[in-house]
Amino acid sequence: MKSRINVVVVIASEARQSRKQTMKKILIAPSILSADFADLKADISKIEKAGADWLHVDVMDGHFVPNITIGAPVVKSIRKTTKMFFDVHLMITNPEKYWQDFKKAGADLIVIHSEISQDKAAILKAIKNSGAKAGISIKPRTPVSDIVELLPLLDLVLIMTVEPGFGGQAFMEDQLSKITELRKIIDKNKFNCLIEVDGGINAQTAKQCVNAGAEVLVSGNYIFNTPDVKEAISSLRA
Ligand code: DX5
Ligand code: ZN
Repeated sequence: MKSRINVVVVIASEARQSRKQTMKKILIAPSILSADFADLKADISKIEKAGADWLHVDVMDGHFVPNITIGAPVVKSIRKTTKMFFDVHLMITNPEKYWQDFKKAGADLIVIHSEISQDKAAILKAIKNSGAKAGISIKPRTPVSDIVELLPLLDLVLIMTVEPGFGGQAFMEDQLSKITELRKIIDKNKFNCLIEVDGGINAQTAKQCVNAGAEVLVSGNYIFNTPDVKEAISSLRA
């Protein structure tokens, strides 16, 4: 587990360094929400071989979002099939009750949502103390200002570019200005925090997000519903 995290720290710092050199290392995180749930092992192996960097795991509770997906037992099972870095996106109302289960199941990064009412700083600190990376996500109607004071604690901010709940939705262009705004704040204060985007990411919208300052691209439908996964992943990087 440690070595996977170390690899990501190196990749993240390379991403930041190369930003300065205009040659950026962009991390691609396919979302298994668009994979074949009856054959997750094969789909994960396919994206790993095709050069994906992280695996994005969408956890939904039917309460925070109007959909239910998978829980910690599934993460535990797929953990045995790959050494990929697991980026676990908790779209759930009570992450304080469940994040430990995902950590035990093998999550490397745990992302909670900013819109919950609990003490986010306390949950993020506990996640970090467990040895996992900690992130926060903002829905399209949540401003960047809502999470600014948490930035010193964060390894990653996930800007949703669709309303969370379902794969295959159209990218919301009006979210680009939030990426630019957050990029400026992170760079100005030299925070050690990556910007990830999630929702409607394809070759064209990936370019818009990277130009605005995103470093990690989640993509589900575009990667999995294509005959050539490798080509899809390299087109996102391009
Ligand atoms: C949406 C999820 C996303 C989604 C992305 O609530 O958080 O990760 O699976 O899927 P696409 O790329 O199809 O929009
Ligand atoms: Zn997601």
